[in-house]
Amino acid sequence: MIVANWKMNKTIADAVLDFEMIKNGLENIDDIKAVICPSYVWLAPLAEIAKTHSVRQLALGAQNVSNEEKGAFTGEVSAQMLKNLVEYCIVGHSEQVAHFGESPEQTRAKVNLLLKNQITPIACVGENVKSDNSIFEVINIAKQILKDLAAPQRRAVILCYEPVWAISSNPNAQPATGGYAGKVARALSKEFPATKILYGGSVDSKNIREFTVQDSIGGALVGSASLDPKEFLEILRNA
Ligand code: PGA
Repeated sequence: MIVANWKMNKTIADAVLDFEMIKNGLENIDDIKAVICPSYVWLAPLAEIAKTHSVRQLALGAQNVSNEEKGAFTGEVSAQMLKNLVEYCIVGHSEQVAHFGESPEQTRAKVNLLLKNQITPIACVGENVKSDNSIFEVINIAKQILKDLAAPQRRAVILCYEPVWAISSNPNAQPATGGYAGKVARALSKEFPATKILYGGSVDSKNIREFTVQDSIGGALVGSASLDPKEFLEILRNA
């Protein structure tokens, strides 16, 4: 599974064009699930495009959701509003944590609301700084997010190991090595058996294979390299 996190990019014209290009390109790529996460406002138009000549490898995801069910929360979007529009939703992304102070408790509430609305959460977990303590830190965040969930519900969540120091928009970002990401993902899957683990942080068409060859890694979350549809298709082909 490869997830494209478009973040706050693309006009509607670009979003439509790029989505169509990915959709057409996917017809020749088997055994992969491509999840496109555009801005909230482009979800409905892209869902319409996805429906015409639907391609089974393609799905839509949201980049965030409210931790509240409904009510007076100006500017927020609820899990119920996303139901039937997306199959997946990213939560706990480090940019939400850094800029808007999302806490593990809020991420946990989001995960619960998404599951209640039959949307698969992609919960990001990662350390700010690489250290000997990183694995412990990452598992600890994941435990806080998944703590109320029974085993079958845990299996319905996807965890994305995304070290903050590896995200391309951060100064001096460096991708993790496949070996390092695989080691952390292995520790996560030992703690949460049967939960799918993705890796994210500076993934592109050249390094994708380094991550997907790891037994513990089931795919990737891609930011900047997913913005160019040609490069994104190349990532899907190389995965
Ligand atoms: P990047 O972003 O691929 O540009 O490092 C990944 C992410 O923030 O999800």
